[in-house]
Amino acid sequence: MTPERYCIREVAVDDEQLRPLIDLHHECLPSRQYATPEQKAGLLAEVRAGLAGRESLVLATFDAERVVAYKIAYRTGNRHEILYSWLGGVHPHHRRKGLARALIRAQHAWAHEHGITHVETHTWGDNPGMLILNLHEGFSIVGVTSGPDRPGVRVILRKALSAPVLPR
Ligand SMILES: CC(C)(COP(=O)(O)OP(=O)(O)OC[C@H]1O[C@@H](n2cnc3c(N)ncnc32)[C@H](O)[C@@H]1OP(=O)(O)O)[C@@H](O)C(=O)NCCC(=O)NCCS
Repeated sequence: MTPERYCIREVAVDDEQLRPLIDLHHECLPSRQYATPEQKAGLLAEVRAGLAGRESLVLATFDAERVVAYKIAYRTGNRHEILYSWLGGVHPHHRRKGLARALIRAQHAWAHEHGITHVETHTWGDNPGMLILNLHEGFSIVGVTSGPDRPGVRVILRKALSAPVLPR
């Protein structure tokens, strides 16, 4: 459960609202801490492009007015039945307080209310925190892949939000 001082809000998909989340993304990942302003601008553009023309959900957790956690997802699938949870993280000073769990639950509640039947996410195999969190929240590992951008295994996780409708 999120402690009282934290508040989850939906954030608009515009540069002003997304920029603090992109900054936070770089603070969350040790490999990104020394990113240049150009690299941050590049990710902002990538996120804008990735969400353009799609139904999306950008959630942020605030400690007073400072954003300390975020989760970015968009709707996809042939029948728009999948929510792809793309990026997420919690500031290192605010970890193990249930903030990521609360964001996942808020995201899945939104997806269920919007008729989405499955949530998918990808996590690198060397990210035990994200893997354990997702498994605890009901995801199953459904595959692995690799990317050209970095070594290692990308784990594909999926969770059904509602029971499948079986053919009669
Ligand atoms: C993974 C991450 C999101 C977890 O955030 P968090 O707010 O600390 O997680 P929560 O407090 O909600 O944890 C819920 C449960 O997940 C599991 N968990 C979370 N972090 C864990 C870790 N580092 N190791 C093992 N289990 C972990 C635990 O079961 C935890 O429950 P518990 O604290 O009662 O034991 C956070 O560590 C993070 O931002 N990591 C870097 C960002 C990242 O890797 N993003 C993915 C690429 S985009």
